[in-house]
Amino acid sequence: MASHDAPATGHERIETSNFLMIVLILIALSIGGLVEIVPLFFQKSTTQPIEGVKPYGALQLAGRDVYIREGCYNCHSQMVRPFRAETLRYGAYSVAGEFVYDHPFQWGSKRTGPDLHRVGGRYSDEWHRVHLTNPRDLVPESNMPAYPWLERTPVDPSQMAPRMTALRRIGVPYTDEEIAGAADEVAGKTELDAVVAYLQGLGLAR
Ligand code: HEC
Repeated sequence: MASHDAPATGHERIETSNFLMIVLILIALSIGGLVEIVPLFFQKSTTQPIEGVKPYGALQLAGRDVYIREGCYNCHSQMVRPFRAETLRYGAYSVAGEFVYDHPFQWGSKRTGPDLHRVGGRYSDEWHRVHLTNPRDLVPESNMPAYPWLERTPVDPSQMAPRMTALRRIGVPYTDEEIAGAADEVAGKTELDAVVAYLQGLGLAR
């Protein structure tokens, strides 16, 4: 042990100086963080869509916005974890390449209801329409809220082109034709149509 009158050296000097300790901890954490995070920006498995993953169509995109607005993610995750209990219940586990066009992704971690990543194609459109309008009509013990207004609320066609243009700016490969046709695709549709289109497209790539 260093005696008290000897000047502090080496590690002891760091441990007895708040300032040095904080600065060096920050440097160590930054290096650790960068080493973990930076490679993800360049790894194909996290930046390239897997085969079959396409950007959301205009109607699905509108549905995704409703999903976020209504806070569905507070009760539903969209990430099947690589465990047997999960893959038996939901299907193939999720991989990063499936979420390349999700800005922001809807992985979540709260599961009051089931995971929804593989819900696409599991039920009919009609099932979803009835379920979203009043879940208790199909699942009597359900504590999911009813969303009756979705059926009565039209999607605003003028919103879609600006949204898709913004997404294109951050890397979603929408073509000019897709953006030009977006308003027509959602014209006359309700928010319920949009959410159902979104749900039915989820997780089909694997
Ligand atoms: C308060 C929590 C809660 C919220 C918020 C919620 N849900 Fe649910 N959801 C549940 C529960 C619980 C179930 C299981 C019972 C049932 O099927 O109704 C469920 C079931 C589902 C199912 C059927 C899944 C399956 O595999 O059987 C779908 C689809 C769904 N919810 C979509 C939505 C959408 C879309 C929203 C937002 C508009 C939403 N949920 C909001 C709790 C919630």
